Amino acid sequence: MTLLFVSAVDDAEDWARELAAHRPDIRFRVWPDVGDPAAVRYALAWRPPVEALAGLPNLQAIFSLGAGIDGLADVPEALPPGVPVVRMVEEGLSSGMAEYVAWQVLDWHRGGPLYRAQQQAGEWRRRRSKLASERRVGILGLGVLGQSAARMLRGLGFPVAGWSRTPKAVDGVDCRHGSEGLRAMVPASDILVNLLPLTPQTEGLIDAGLLAALPQGAVLINAARGRHVVEADLLAALDRGHLAGASLDVFASEPLAADHPFWRHPKITLTPHVAALTLPRTAAPAVVAQIARIERGEAPLHVVDASRGY
Ligand code: NAP
Ligand code: GLV
Repeated sequence: MTLLFVSAVDDAEDWARELAAHRPDIRFRVWPDVGDPAAVRYALAWRPPVEALAGLPNLQAIFSLGAGIDGLADVPEALPPGVPVVRMVEEGLSSGMAEYVAWQVLDWHRGGPLYRAQQQAGEWRRRRSKLASERRVGILGLGVLGQSAARMLRGLGFPVAGWSRTPKAVDGVDCRHGSEGLRAMVPASDILVNLLPLTPQTEGLIDAGLLAALPQGAVLINAARGRHVVEADLLAALDRGHLAGASLDVFASEPLAADHPFWRHPKITLTPHVAALTLPRTAAPAVVAQIARIERGEAPLHVVDASRGY
């Protein structure tokens, strides 16, 4: 039985080694070296070329190498119909995202950008800081990663609200849903964290209207997808002083163009799409567990629902 690896950006050697440690019986092949197409039962993929997953008559599941499935959904014709697409849910991604969000929230909360600027200027100036309990954080998206981030922020003492499509109950989190929930949560978010999937409903959600509804001096942290944010609207909100700053890990076009205004904007903290990376060491056991479910005749977990788009 073969697992076909299809990715131009992930490390095939790492994956081969980690999967073999758990399931030495699975033959690991790297596209385009498919071998016998009839032996391929599983694909582990990110942005597969259109032809990569075609002509595999016994393909049982396509595992996305990322939590977001836009790396697969961007080219729907590359996905053989009827084969489940499974999102990546694994400890490395969940912990990594919670760490990134906590890092950025704490940095803005404690005045990191201000003190770094003061250091550059050789300025000794002490500023009064709020307590975490006085800084409200709102999270757009209360799924696997949103909940992981919410738990860590709660542990640090921040009041946390979260927004999802359907109603949720998460311990210690003020859960909101639907358009009314969004309208209530945004004006009460001193720091707004985006962890939504990219779908036709969420693309461009963070626009001038939503940004204007944030409290004066709020901060945006976008760790989901660049196309959630209308970039010109964000720049305008920063430049007119309504927003105090933004941490951006993702961009409408990546890598970010060398002349993009985000690079040198004084109110933007920028990272190159590293908030949470799928780590073969922690992700291989998750993939192996999904394969075991399929072998037992059970449906895999975290299957993408094409009708909702995530
Ligand atoms: P997930 O478990 O599928 O959670 C998605 C959440 O968004 C759910 O709570 C869902 O609501 C909510 N949602 C979806 N559509 C909505 C809508 N129209 N209105 C309101 N809420 C909506 O996804 P995840 O694993 O947490 O991942 C989230 C995203 O993070 C990924 O899609 C990816 O884009 C991004 N990501 C970024 C990085 C990075 O390094 N920057 C790494 C990994 C992932 P329900 O709960 O009601 O379904
Ligand atoms: C990374 O952005 C992912 O979706 O896993």
